[in-house]
Amino acid sequence: MAAEKTARNRSSPAHQARYALRHPRRVPRHARRLLRDAWLRLRHRDHISYYRAVMASDAARSVEAAVGHNPSREQWARIGRMQFDYLVGHGLKPQHRMLEIGCGNLRAGRLLIGHLETGHYYGIDISPRILLAAQDTVVREGLQAKMPYLALADDLTFAFLPDGHFDVVHAHSVFSHSPRHVIEECFAHVGRLLAPGGFFDFTFDRTEGEEHQVLHEDFYYRTETLAALAAEHGLAARFMDDWEQLPHGQSRMRLTVRGQARTLGR
Ligand SMILES: C[S@@+](CC[C@H](N)C(=O)[O-])C[C@H]1O[C@@H](n2cnc3c(N)ncnc32)[C@H](O)[C@@H]1O
Repeated sequence: MAAEKTARNRSSPAHQARYALRHPRRVPRHARRLLRDAWLRLRHRDHISYYRAVMASDAARSVEAAVGHNPSREQWARIGRMQFDYLVGHGLKPQHRMLEIGCGNLRAGRLLIGHLETGHYYGIDISPRILLAAQDTVVREGLQAKMPYLALADDLTFAFLPDGHFDVVHAHSVFSHSPRHVIEECFAHVGRLLAPGGFFDFTFDRTEGEEHQVLHEDFYYRTETLAALAAEHGLAARFMDDWEQLPHGQSRMRLTVRGQARTLGR
């Protein structure tokens, strides 16, 4: 990722003024988003219910745009394929069991479900609207016989999931929309779910400058902050350099349970 991009603070008035001058046509859209988000924040005090309302509002216009910030189906499919190819390239085999946090409408999930053995894909999301769209994807892709689990979640404690069950846990474009306490909750509990040698991969919007957020929707973190937070919960962090070569604006980190073997089992 370009150094200039990771140094930006998108919440600063100077950045916003420069952006508005460069993209005047985007100003009305941003102003509408500002108003909507202020209204939703008034009605929903905790982040999960606030973000669930954001997803419902976005999805009412376009589910693809809601999960991918991009209206074209080709882009939706391309980003899903990129996630899938990356995980398979890193050893994801049909016999593995996988949990996808923030599965969206199965942009990558549809390929993962097809690849994995029956019942080995488990997707969770905070948005009922998006989970219904995920079911539509299962139907459209003819994946019913693979029996994917699709579950609504209210937090990231995973209390309803078993110990040591998942070889791969994956969260793409979820922490880019999550405040620190949501990420910390996930780190505090995700290690319990990992099978021996399993890993948890997530993407995040990386900054090398000051950490910041825009509209309580987009959050920018330093790599060191997330690695230190993971260490507090017994997880070892690895920054995934090979992901940086791919045409994607976010960075990627892999967490493993400290002291455990680092290769996928089974
Ligand atoms: C940008 S979309 C990405 C969806 C999917 N991972 C993909 O790549 O297509 C983010 C998704 O994460 C979900 N989400 C956001 N915060 C979450 C949380 N704390 N727990 C579970 N899902 C969450 C949203 O509802 C949304 O479906």
